Amino acid sequence: MSILVLGGAGYIGSHAVDTLVNEGYDTVVVDSLVTGHRAAVNKQAKFYKGDILDEQFLNNVFEQEEIETVMHFAAFSLVSESMTKPLKYFKNNTAGLVNLLEVMKNHGVNQIVFSSTAATYGVPKELPITESSPTNPINPYGESKLMMEKIMGWADQAYGIKFVALRYFNVAGAKLDGSIGEAHHPETHLIPIILDTALGNRNRITIFGNDYNTKDGTNVRDYVHVLDLIDAHIAAMKYLQAGNPSNVFNLGSSNGFSNLEILQSAIKVTGVNIPYEIGARRGGDPDSLVAMSKKAREILEWTPRYEQIDTIISSAWQWHQKHPNGYGD
Ligand code: UFG
Repeated sequence: MSILVLGGAGYIGSHAVDTLVNEGYDTVVVDSLVTGHRAAVNKQAKFYKGDILDEQFLNNVFEQEEIETVMHFAAFSLVSESMTKPLKYFKNNTAGLVNLLEVMKNHGVNQIVFSSTAATYGVPKELPITESSPTNPINPYGESKLMMEKIMGWADQAYGIKFVALRYFNVAGAKLDGSIGEAHHPETHLIPIILDTALGNRNRITIFGNDYNTKDGTNVRDYVHVLDLIDAHIAAMKYLQAGNPSNVFNLGSSNGFSNLEILQSAIKVTGVNIPYEIGARRGGDPDSLVAMSKKAREILEWTPRYEQIDTIISSAWQWHQKHPNGYGD
C-alpha cells in the first residue's frame, strides 16, 4: 500500500515526501508543478504530473496505485493574493478537495491528512489559540481551508472518510543538509526574504509596520520547523491508520517571535548585518498569532525537535546558501 502526497513538489509537500521515502513508505506524488518544483521531489517517489481539478487524471492515479492514506498539500496559500483573486482559491482549494473526496470515495480510500492553517481563526480574541477558539477567517485563503475542513466533516459522516486537519502556524526551516527548502515565486514570507537579503539578492527587507500592539510594535508569529511539521503528519497518518476518529490539531510552538526578533536571530545566524527599513502595515496582518499545541502533543504524541528559532533559521540559511536561486526553474 502507498501513501499519496498531493502537492508533493511544494515546500512542505517535498519535505513530507523525503521523510516518507526515508522512513521506507511507498510514496506516490501528484503535483501540477504550477508552484512546485520537480527537482524538490525525492527521486525514489513515483511522480504523476497533473491537476487535482482534473477528475479523470485523479481517477487514473487511484486506479494504478494502491493508496492507503492521502496527504493533501496541494493548495494555493498566499493570503494577499486570495484577497484579489478569491475564486482562484475557492476553485483550486475548495473545489479541488471535492473532486479528491469523490475519487477517494469511489476507490474506497478513507484516510486523509490535511494541511489547514491558522488563517482559519482570523483575528484571535485570546492567545494562545486553541482548537476550540472561534474560527472567523478574514481572507478567502483561510475561508477556503475552513470550508474544506467542514466538507471533510460531512464526507466523514456520509462516507466514513476520516480526516486529520493540521492547522499550521508559521512554517519555516529546511532539511538539515540544505538539499531541499523553501522556494516560492514570488516569495512573500518573512524568513526567506530576510535570508535573501543576507545573500545580497535584495537591497533591504521592509518590515511591515511597527505600531502593532505587541512587545516591540512588530507582528508576533509562532514558527514551527518544517521537519517537526512533517513528524506531526506522520503521527496523524498513524493515528488514522489505527482507526481513530477525525480530528483537528494546531501545529505551533507556543512561542511568539516578533518580526524584529526574527531579524535579530537571522543577523546572529548569518553573521551579516542585514539592512532593513520599517514600512507601512500590510493588509490583513493580525497583531499576534500564537498556537496552543498541547492537543497534538498529547493525542498524536508529537514532540517537536527543532524549537529554537536560531535552529530553524540556521537550517533555512543552509538551504539559501546552497541554492541562492532556489531550484533554478
Ligand atoms: N513580513 C514583513 N516583511 C516582508 C514579509 C513579511 O514584515 O517582506 C511580516 C508580515 O507582515 C508578518 C510576518 O512578517 O507580520 C510574517 O509574514 P509571512 O508572510 O511570513 O507569514 P504570515 O504570518 O502572513 O502567513 C503564514 C502563512 C499563511 C498562513 C498564516 C497563518 O504563510 O499561509 O501564516 O498564520 F495563513
